[in-house]
Amino acid sequence: MCGIVGYVGSATPSTRPLDVALEGLGRLEYRGYDSAGVALVAPGRDEVAVAKKAGKLVNLRTALVESPLPQATAAIGHTRWATHGAPSDLNAHPHVALDGRLAVIHNGIIENFFSLRSELLEAGVQFVSETDTEVAAHLLAAQYERCGDLTEAMRVVAQRLEGTFTLLAVHADHPDTVVGARHDSPLVVGLGDGENFLGSDVAAFIAHTREALELGQDQIATITPNAVTVTDFEGQVVTPKHYTVDWDASAAEKGGFWSFMAKEIADQPKAVADTLLGRTNESGDLILDDARIDEATLRTIDKIIVVACGTAAYAGHVAKYAIEHWCRIPVEIELAHEFRYRDPIVTPRTLVVAISQSGETMDTLMAVRHAQEQGAKVIAIVNTHGSTIPRESDAVLYTHAGPEVAVASTKAFVSQITAAYILGLYFAQLRGNMFRDEIHTVLDELRAMPDKIQEVLDRGERVREIARWMADTSSVLFLGRHVGFPIALEGALKLKELAYIHAEGFAAGELKHGPIALIEPGQPVFVIVPSPRGRDSLHSKVISNIQEIRARGARTLVIAEDGDEAVTPFADEVFWVPQCPTLLSPLVTVVPLQIFAAELSRAKGLDVDQPRNLAKSVTVE
Ligand code: F6R
Repeated sequence: MCGIVGYVGSATPSTRPLDVALEGLGRLEYRGYDSAGVALVAPGRDEVAVAKKAGKLVNLRTALVESPLPQATAAIGHTRWATHGAPSDLNAHPHVALDGRLAVIHNGIIENFFSLRSELLEAGVQFVSETDTEVAAHLLAAQYERCGDLTEAMRVVAQRLEGTFTLLAVHADHPDTVVGARHDSPLVVGLGDGENFLGSDVAAFIAHTREALELGQDQIATITPNAVTVTDFEGQVVTPKHYTVDWDASAAEKGGFWSFMAKEIADQPKAVADTLLGRTNESGDLILDDARIDEATLRTIDKIIVVACGTAAYAGHVAKYAIEHWCRIPVEIELAHEFRYRDPIVTPRTLVVAISQSGETMDTLMAVRHAQEQGAKVIAIVNTHGSTIPRESDAVLYTHAGPEVAVASTKAFVSQITAAYILGLYFAQLRGNMFRDEIHTVLDELRAMPDKIQEVLDRGERVREIARWMADTSSVLFLGRHVGFPIALEGALKLKELAYIHAEGFAAGELKHGPIALIEPGQPVFVIVPSPRGRDSLHSKVISNIQEIRARGARTLVIAEDGDEAVTPFADEVFWVPQCPTLLSPLVTVVPLQIFAAELSRAKGLDVDQPRNLAKSVTVE
C-alpha cells in the first residue's frame, strides 16, 4: 500500500537517480496506482525538483517527457494508494515544504493528523493538499529549521506522529542524503557500490542490488553514497541485519507472458516445489525455518487460531481441514481484522498461525501483536523475507513462491497451502499423531503435486475458451464442500476482484438453506466435486447438489477428478483435474478458477494485474 523508493549515488548530477526511482516505482506499482511522483536534489540547486501526476506511473512518465527534470544526485519516488484525499495531482506525493527546499513521501496513515494540522494552521502554515502526509512535511520543515540536521529532525517528528508510517525526506541543502523512518510500515535498505537505496520492499532496488538491510520497528536510516547509518527513535545507533535476496530482477518480470498474473499462475508448480524444498533435517524430521520457540511449548498447544485476510485466509481455511485431520488439534480460522476486535479467547496454550504473502498486512500484523500480548505464540507463514510479520513472530515457515507482482494472489496461495500442510505434518510429528512413514507418504504425495498442477495448466485452453464465451456474464456462483468450500470462496474472490462481476462462494450444503433462491435458468455455477475415492458420502452429496441446481436451470461448470464419470450427466462443462488425495486437492482445483477469472477479465479489456481500487500490500487497517 503505497510504494516508496529512495536513492543516493555519485557526487556529480546524472539521470541515474530519476532512472532508478522510476524503475523502482514500476516494480512497486502493485502497491498502489492512484498517483506517482518523484523529487530530485542536486548540489548547487536551491529547490527540490518535483514532478507528480494522478493515475498510473505512465502518466508521470509522460509528464516527464513533456517537462523533463534536471539531473540529480539523489531521488525519492512514490506510488500512491489513496487514503486521505482523492487521487489527484495535488494530493500526489512528494509533498514539499520550506519554500520547495524539502520534500517528503509517506506510506501509512497519520492518525493524529487533525490535531497536528490545526497546530500548524495556527502557526500560519498553508496547506495545499488534503493529505495527512503534508502535516509530516511541515513538521519536518519546522524541526529542520530548529536543528539543521535532517536525521535529527526526522527523529523528533517521528515521535510526534501516531498511526503507521514510512517517511522518506530529501533536502536541497543535502544533495547526498536521503533519510527514511519507519513505524509499523515497511522499509528496507539496499546496499550498492558507491550508491545506496531505500524501498518499501526489495523490488524497489532488485535491478541494482540483492544485498539488503532489514530495518526494525521505529528506526531511521540515513543513506549517503558510501554509508548507511541506522538509529532508533531515541537516537541510538543500531546494527541492522544484513541479508541477500534469493531472487533476481528477472523473477519479477513478465517473462513473455501477457500479464504478471498469467506468469504467476504458470509459476505455480515451481512455487509449490520450492516451498517443499529443504523441510527436513539430516534425520528426516520436519523443521521450521526460523524457530524462536521450543518444541516443549509447542507440544502443550491445545488450540490453533489461523489469522489472515482475503486469499491468505482461504489458505488458512484449507489448513484447518488438514491440521485437524492429521493432528487432532482444534483449528479456528479467523479474519485478522475481526480477531483483534472481538475479545478472542487466547491463552499461552493457543498457537496463532499468521498467513501473509507480503508479511506486511496491517490487519494481520495487529492480530499477531494482539495474540502475543495475551501470551500466545505465533508462527508466521510468509512469502516476503525481511518483512515485519515474520520478524515479530516466534517461528516462521517461509513460502518460496518468489515475488508476486499481480495484485490478485495466485502462486502465493498455493504456496501458503503447501506451507500449512508442512506445518500440520510438523505438528503431527511433534505430537506423535502420525507415524513417521505416514508423514513421509503424505510428503511424497505433496511432492507429486507440482506435476499435477502442471497438467491442469496444460489443459487451460478449454477454461480460457469458456471464460471468453462468458465475458458478458453478470453473476457467477461457486460451490464446494470440505476443502472445496474455501476454494469456492477463492474462485469467487478472484472473479470479483479481476472481472468486477458479482460472484459468491458457498458451502454446497448451505445452498438449500437460502442461496438456492438465486438459481434461475442460465445462472452459471462452478461446482468443485470431491474425489469419489475419498469419503464416498462427500462425493455423492455434491453430485446431489449439482442435480438440485441443474433441475432449476443452472448452467453447471464442474471441476472433477479424472475418471469421475458420475459427474458428466449433470455437467454442462467439466474441467478435469488429476487424481490426488482429497486434502491436497485444493492445489489443483483452484487452478481452473484462477485461469477463468484472469481470462474473463482480459476478455473484458480490464487490467488484470492492477484491478481498480486495490493494492497488493495492505499496510493500513
Ligand atoms: C486477493 C488477495 C488479497 C490478499 C490479502 C492478504 O487476491 O491477494 O485478498 O490475500 O490482502 O494479503 P497478504 O497475504 O499479503 O497478507
